[in-house]
Amino acid sequence: MRAIGVTNYGPPEVLKVIDLPEVHAGPGQVRIRVLAATVNPTDMSVRNGSRAEMQKSDPPPYVPGMDIAGVIDEVGAGALGAFLVGDSVMAMVIPKGSHGGYRQQIALNSRSVVRAPAGATLVEAATLPMNGLTARQTLDLLALKPAQILAVTGAAGAYGGYVIQLAKAGGLTVIADASDSDRSLVSALGADIVVQRGDDVATRIRAHFPNGVDGLADGAVQKELVIPAVRDGGAFASVRGFKGESQRGIRFETVSVRIYDGDFEKLDQLRRMVEEGKITLRVAETYPPERAAEAHRRLEAGGTRGRLVIQF
Ligand SMILES: NC(=O)c1ccc[n+]([C@@H]2O[C@H](COP(=O)([O-])OP(=O)(O)OC[C@H]3O[C@@H](n4cnc5c(N)ncnc54)[C@H](OP(=O)(O)O)[C@@H]3O)[C@@H](O)[C@H]2O)c1
Repeated sequence: MRAIGVTNYGPPEVLKVIDLPEVHAGPGQVRIRVLAATVNPTDMSVRNGSRAEMQKSDPPPYVPGMDIAGVIDEVGAGALGAFLVGDSVMAMVIPKGSHGGYRQQIALNSRSVVRAPAGATLVEAATLPMNGLTARQTLDLLALKPAQILAVTGAAGAYGGYVIQLAKAGGLTVIADASDSDRSLVSALGADIVVQRGDDVATRIRAHFPNGVDGLADGAVQKELVIPAVRDGGAFASVRGFKGESQRGIRFETVSVRIYDGDFEKLDQLRRMVEEGKITLRVAETYPPERAAEAHRRLEAGGTRGRLVIQF
């Protein structure tokens, strides 16, 4: 079975097509013939060694990938979810050793797997689970009420786009950042107000909301720079472990999507929202496994809009 993995950490070129033994669906699991695996920023750290300490308990090869879509080809005893062989599905994967999303075949707990959205291709479906669940968790942690104000940085990115769309579905007012070339994209995603991105984005947000916003989702990882956008007693959601210094009664929340692994209902709700037209799936380009390094290079270069997806 083909996979894409690394045996030595390094630049994109270390990604190789490798051969792994076949796996089977254990109790409570389904096996998926993976047809699409999305490339996300976190995959870079599986490849480049920045997570070497966490990965050392498993032997190489290390297979990156947290997002897949494909077709069920084996159902284990006691698997929940009424899955049948041949069903089109999507799932989030928590990578461990060679168990990552960039592989032709994977066995997963059936609670981590939901039907792919009707009307979406499997390539499109593969872009949803991990970032959709991260956006969901962000909004759950911020716990804003309808009509409250949410600011989103990195709004043109995959995570930022899902945050905007889930926030709008939840009745929030959204102010989001964009470069000139991303303005129409961010507006189309549903942002009520779009401000110029940059280091001084907090000042621009305050120009619209002088008391500050109720919550902020920091998809651009601007950390301290954007805390001033948040009102006294507001909430700040970080996606890279940042916790701001205690100040002005602001609640600092750290998002970790792993906590939502196996939460069938949350992922299935995202599926329904795609079918209802409330969430947009964005694909920039697809790559064959042999060109995975190119996809990593392109994502690292920045400026990609929509996701890069490896097709097996
Ligand atoms: N904690 C978790 O569980 C979790 C889960 C999912 C994602 N994440 C993290 O969430 C972040 C967003 O993920 P993503 O997939 O949405 O990434 P993405 O698609 O690359 O989006 C990031 C966006 O932020 C913009 N940006 C980067 N630096 C900026 C800056 N200094 N000022 C303004 N905008 C800036 C990028 O623009 P350019 O492309 O022009 O640079 C891009 O539009 C990543 O750091 C990712 O690792 C964490």
